[in-house]
Amino acid sequence: MLSVLIVGSGGREHALAWACQRASGINRVVVVPGNPGIRQAGVETIPVDLADLEAVCRIADQAACSLIVIGPEAPLVGGLADHLRARGHQVLGPSRLAARLEGSKAYAKAVMASCGVPTARFATVSSSQALEAAIDRFQGNVALKADGLAQGKGVWIASDLQDARQAGGRWLGTFGSLVVEERLTGPEISVHALVCGDAVVALPLARDYKRRFDRDLGPNTGGMGAVAPVASSISAADLVDLAIAPVARHLTAQGSPFQGVLYAGLMLTPDGPRVLEYNVRFGDPETEVLLPLLPPDAPEWLMAAATGRLEQAGPLPVATDQAVGVVVVANGYPTAQAPPQPIAFRTQGRGELLFWSGVAGDERHLLAGSGRVATAVGVGPTHAEARAAAYRLAESIHFSGSAYRRDIGTEPQVTSQP
Ligand code: AMP
Ligand code: GLY
Repeated sequence: MLSVLIVGSGGREHALAWACQRASGINRVVVVPGNPGIRQAGVETIPVDLADLEAVCRIADQAACSLIVIGPEAPLVGGLADHLRARGHQVLGPSRLAARLEGSKAYAKAVMASCGVPTARFATVSSSQALEAAIDRFQGNVALKADGLAQGKGVWIASDLQDARQAGGRWLGTFGSLVVEERLTGPEISVHALVCGDAVVALPLARDYKRRFDRDLGPNTGGMGAVAPVASSISAADLVDLAIAPVARHLTAQGSPFQGVLYAGLMLTPDGPRVLEYNVRFGDPETEVLLPLLPPDAPEWLMAAATGRLEQAGPLPVATDQAVGVVVVANGYPTAQAPPQPIAFRTQGRGELLFWSGVAGDERHLLAGSGRVATAVGVGPTHAEARAAAYRLAESIHFSGSAYRRDIGTEPQVTSQP
């Protein structure tokens, strides 16, 4: 029997815990620090400050689980996987060096350039002269990207030349260096793969709805909803060959092999797919719609990736179901804080899965926090049934100031407006 420790506290980690709980070969699932909603769902949690990597390692030593899955990017970029592996743990999560693919946009662009992955043309600038030259080169049609982790707030899509110059100047002052990218248009798609060295196993394609309001308006958020699988002219396997496998081989050749989940965010432009970014972990809320499509023994593939046996595990069988996830947020998200509010909710019905994220209080009295509160997932044989189930569940979650997008699961807007 296996035991699994999951690091993180959001809907992604709740979905991972759910997937491990339903696997017959797993007898213990622990989430650190988790949240009261995850506890309410019957999963063991242990409080810890994720910024304190040594404290996380001590808990992992005590829990002595067979597999550790690291959810969020910050501990990965900080080297948590290296610390845990040095203490003998089996970990799904890349090393600090490999995690630079997400931690540094400039590094990710350099890797893409050296392994021929199609991406937007770009320049990395650290002076006002270089900034101006890059903006002029793309006639002001640019996306500006801060180099470090920015929790979805590190990209500025310029509306015109003047906006590009003003925002560029401001950001250069704040961040010291920037990636200036040509602005692309087209629908976005997420491809996730389990990676261990050169071995890669594709997950179904997913789509994340990043903007706060319906019709893709308003500020970027961590994600307001997701769907999977996504019908596309290019298959998940082909996108993995294009965007994931070359990077995996490159990192192995450089002596920092990737071991974990690599997720590429792409735009399907009229000139073909272009990678916008890499994430070195499962997406949130994509995980909440991907895991329900996988078989109950899916954690065996996670274990295989963590222990160097991914090649032998073969492709992941995927159900023919559809999944839609609607994120319920607190009033003011992502710009303003809201005071904690009591939550009322009902038991989930058939084809409904509820994953908690920004909740406080205790398991008997959940309080909505100030960000993303829960992801209501519907799973069904058709997209329409999955979508109806997700919205039925989202509507049943009540707290003062609750909000969600009404258009999750509809076709995305094809232009990315500022
Ligand atoms: P990223 O953090 O790089 O994924 O960017 C966040 C969002 O900004 C993406 O999901 C896109 O909607 C948008 N974006 C990023 N890069 C570009 C680009 N080169 N052109 C147009 N939109 C972009
Ligand atoms: N859904 C976007 C992310 O996880 O970064």
